[in-house]
Amino acid sequence: MRGGRTMQSIRDWKSAELDGKRIVVRVDLNVPIVRGRVVDDWRLRAVLPTIRFLTDRGARVILLAHLGRPKGKRVPELSLRPVAKRLATLLGKPVSFVPEVIGRRVQKAIARSAPGDVLLLENLRFFPGEEKNGVTFARNLAVLGDRFVQDGFAVCHRTDASLVRLPKLLPSAAGILLSEEVAVLSHLLTRPKKPFVVLIGGAKIETKIGVIRALAKKAQTVAIGGTLLVPFLKASGYDVGSSPVTAKDVRLAKQLLALRPLLLPTDVVVATSPKAKPFVRKVKEIGAGECIYDIGPATIRAYAKKIRSAQTIVWNGPMGYAEIPTFSHGSHALAWIIASRSRGKAYGVIGGGETIQIMRKREVIEWMDWVSTGGGAMLMFLEGKALPGIAAIQKK
Ligand code: 3PG
Repeated sequence: MRGGRTMQSIRDWKSAELDGKRIVVRVDLNVPIVRGRVVDDWRLRAVLPTIRFLTDRGARVILLAHLGRPKGKRVPELSLRPVAKRLATLLGKPVSFVPEVIGRRVQKAIARSAPGDVLLLENLRFFPGEEKNGVTFARNLAVLGDRFVQDGFAVCHRTDASLVRLPKLLPSAAGILLSEEVAVLSHLLTRPKKPFVVLIGGAKIETKIGVIRALAKKAQTVAIGGTLLVPFLKASGYDVGSSPVTAKDVRLAKQLLALRPLLLPTDVVVATSPKAKPFVRKVKEIGAGECIYDIGPATIRAYAKKIRSAQTIVWNGPMGYAEIPTFSHGSHALAWIIASRSRGKAYGVIGGGETIQIMRKREVIEWMDWVSTGGGAMLMFLEGKALPGIAAIQKK
């Protein structure tokens, strides 16, 4: 554990400490829901081992989670009710949904529950106290349980009440998912087998600059894709046509250009709009009015060559505008190569919602060594920063 801090795991707890006890578990069940149905349940599957571990030992499990960003108000479309339904199917046992988070109704539902029962409370973010890290809100959550389990790795980069204040009010430990995420990602930071190749795509350079800088110290290659590549190309002196980019983004990219492992595209796929005819252009030949939507074939080959020689691979963020088939080739080609090298030739780790979606579409997600449930949380961890939700359950 970093900085000499230790973290208890639920596996350290004795059965007597769980049998019949009320165990509050913070999980990340932030999954896409369309017309009242969960359309992707990967984050739900990831927390099943922790729930089963606890219920097998006679605990009464009270799940706390958020969905979307309702900003402290009740938003019916962001209710966790559909999630309870799907979770029950996955667990093969009932999950009682309680349409409240704090108060008498919740306490009564918990009092009525039997050892081994599972309850899911309503969206924590319907209450302003959650994201404001409210003292009273955290105390109201603490009275619901005897112990606290942190298993919501994907939200541990936030400073919400259920993540940073609640663990201080109850005996706390890490769930099975959180422990595994920490073990895998720590391994990447401390003992990655070389060559270590990182692919970073997606958007928002300001959220990726830290992790690019940090990983450039450990990896032999940090290949850039997605909209992220636009400020890098502009900072390198190329004309990026009509691709949106701010002066601030270009300044940020400039700070990283000198990093030796940085690998940038030599060609890209452009179009005047997402529906217009696409063209492959060398980066020095992008025309006025052309917008960059994907990495080009020569770049795919160059990135693939690095991936093929790697012993450790990390990928977060699509290489292009992958929702549109025409601009998804960079992401799909590399997804295939990364997956085919993993489990044997290299240790392959991916994270982030869109990246997982791409691997899913290619039906190769099972081939990966580790699929992190975290997007922002994974990046912050790999940047070497302490995640507030993890720090809160660590002891000196
Ligand atoms: C995620 O989906 O990345 C986590 O659940 C965090 O969600 P947030 O970005 O809304 O805090």
